[in-house]
Amino acid sequence: MTFSIRPLSDVLAAEVRGVDLREPLDDADRAALNEAFLDRHVLCFRDQELDKPAQLAATLRFGPLDVHIQRNKGDEISLVHTVSNLDADGNPKPEAAAKGNLRWHSDKSYRTVPSCATFLYAVKVPAQGGRTEFANMNRAFEAYSAERREAFRGMKVVHDWVRSCRKSGEREASPEEASVYPPVAHPLVRRHPESGREAFFIGNHASHISGMDREEGEALLEEIEAHSTAERFVWRHQWREGDLLMWDNRCLLHRAEERAREARVLHRTVTRGTSPF
Ligand code: OGA
Ligand code: MN
Repeated sequence: MTFSIRPLSDVLAAEVRGVDLREPLDDADRAALNEAFLDRHVLCFRDQELDKPAQLAATLRFGPLDVHIQRNKGDEISLVHTVSNLDADGNPKPEAAAKGNLRWHSDKSYRTVPSCATFLYAVKVPAQGGRTEFANMNRAFEAYSAERREAFRGMKVVHDWVRSCRKSGEREASPEEASVYPPVAHPLVRRHPESGREAFFIGNHASHISGMDREEGEALLEEIEAHSTAERFVWRHQWREGDLLMWDNRCLLHRAEERAREARVLHRTVTRGTSPF
């Protein structure tokens, strides 16, 4: 395939044009896209025409699928989730959108094996607003002094789904979720398994610091998150229908900017990551 890759900001993200994700990628295409992905952390493939099976097939070209305990029970197609703010009658209803997505997070960071890449495909999006925001956790880490970086390297952070649900006010975690996802300690600073770069691994699922006074650890996490999501580390994606956004949960935080008032429907797939180190 001949395609072009163009940075969308200084901080992160690139736009890819000329790729049809319904078609297979050869080794050279995949290598070029992977290099851009490692460098830019978010790839926006424009003008895609993907139904759910095609999105699933496209995702599997980049890695093995990550599954949810709640939803991997049906047929294969249910492995593609819908992110939507529509009510049962198909009308936009802001409160129908997930509250947890409004908090900075890294997908499934509360698992022992968190997600690798998330693929979000825009089916119906508002012309204005309803953006998704991303923050570069590698740049944020590098911006601290050498002393503080060294101190952070020795710390472990506990990620906890039950607590995350309480913090966002989304809902209570179900008993099944609570038993499948007990709190897990990850390195506060994780090394990217492919690029080797260090990045904070924090966000709403992060609860406190292992072995540190609880409140002190919570305050430290708040400080790091505030630092890391400052404007200079952030990029916002204004969606266009047909965009397939692929982002790297190993070195980014993301969140929904707001609960859009107009219809917003996206299809979501995720690839499985590896244990952070
Ligand atoms: C997600 C997510 C944010 C958004 O799908 O994982 O966080 O803007 N989405 O919809
Ligand atoms: Mn998310």
